Amino acid sequence: MHTKKILVVGGAGYIGSHMVAVLQDAGFDPIVLDDLSTGHRHAVKDAEFVMGDMADDNVLETIFTKHKIQAVMHFAAFIQVNESVKNPAKYYLNNVAGTLKLLQAMLKHGVNQFIFSSTAAVFGEPRYTPMNEDHPQSPVNAYGSSKLMVEKILQDYTRAYPDFRFMTLRYFNAAGAHPNGKLGEWHEPETHLIPVILEVASGKRSAINIFGTDYPTPDGTCIRDYVHVMDLCEAHLLALQALMQGKKSNSYNLGTGHGFSIRQVIDCAREVTKCDIKTENAERREGDPTILVADPSLAIAELNWQPKYADLPTIIAHAWQASRMNAELSSV
Ligand SMILES: NC(=O)c1ccc[n+]([C@@H]2O[C@H](COP(=O)([O-])OP(=O)(O)OC[C@H]3O[C@@H](n4cnc5c(N)ncnc54)[C@H](O)[C@@H]3O)[C@@H](O)[C@H]2O)c1
Repeated sequence: MHTKKILVVGGAGYIGSHMVAVLQDAGFDPIVLDDLSTGHRHAVKDAEFVMGDMADDNVLETIFTKHKIQAVMHFAAFIQVNESVKNPAKYYLNNVAGTLKLLQAMLKHGVNQFIFSSTAAVFGEPRYTPMNEDHPQSPVNAYGSSKLMVEKILQDYTRAYPDFRFMTLRYFNAAGAHPNGKLGEWHEPETHLIPVILEVASGKRSAINIFGTDYPTPDGTCIRDYVHVMDLCEAHLLALQALMQGKKSNSYNLGTGHGFSIRQVIDCAREVTKCDIKTENAERREGDPTILVADPSLAIAELNWQPKYADLPTIIAHAWQASRMNAELSSV
């Protein structure tokens, strides 16, 4: 059994905490760096945890000196689109400048393998669907721009530093939770559709707003591609193994290739939870594309990625189980 050390930056967050569990199951030794700005200490179960900011040179120096890190997985970012429009500096400082500090520390210590969490938001308004990697990149908010900037920085790094290689993984809508129910999605405030719907099911919210009911889709609501967090983590594991086998840097779109409308997701959540989920129609939000669906064929072909939980009822059932178990723990 190998104990390759992987630095998971942002490993106390939603996707990062699942990644830590997947890495441990695969025999790796993940070390978590997280400042808990949006993450949760309880989400890091038994991996080594370092509390700190990825932009802090001293923290990075300590980690890279103490541990022989083989690769870095970078999940740390601010992720709220609306906030990024109002406060772009916050996003560029953390998502871009913070990432540069991390990359510089890696280079200094000869750590040359990097996996970056990017997003469909780097594409902006879809010009065609499903969206493959060749889709033009024209983000419409500071969050998407901050992620695109890092994508460009990574390309420049591979040109400047021949040993440096990266895998950029662009998620569409991450959803679901660990099948054991012990990890889940806990954002504050929660802006993602499925956890918000489940907050209505559990009585934490009175209703879910449907932003726009007159889109040119069969039921008038927006269509999105929901990809299970465990499938995302599996793709990271495959990307890590590809890097370790010497594969060249690349970027992949991760989704199921199938879209569900907001109403379809709500109906599915009613069936899974057996709860009444009240909806309220609201105005469209600016910058919400009608349809966002990934074309994942490149990741399937090159990384040999096979999403295991691509059906919506399973995604929602896992999210529901995690939210119920978390509510029970919080009440004791
Ligand atoms: N959730 C989604 O649907 C989705 C979709 C596309 C892309 N992504 C990307 O995936 C990544 C993870 O998203 P998430 O949903 O898990 O978010 P999250 O907020 O749950 O996790 C981010 C983690 O990073 C930490 N962090 C932030 N800034 C930090 C810093 N400067 N130093 C150390 N730690 C810091 C936070 O405390 C948190 O634990 C992000 O990069 C995001 O852009 C997420």
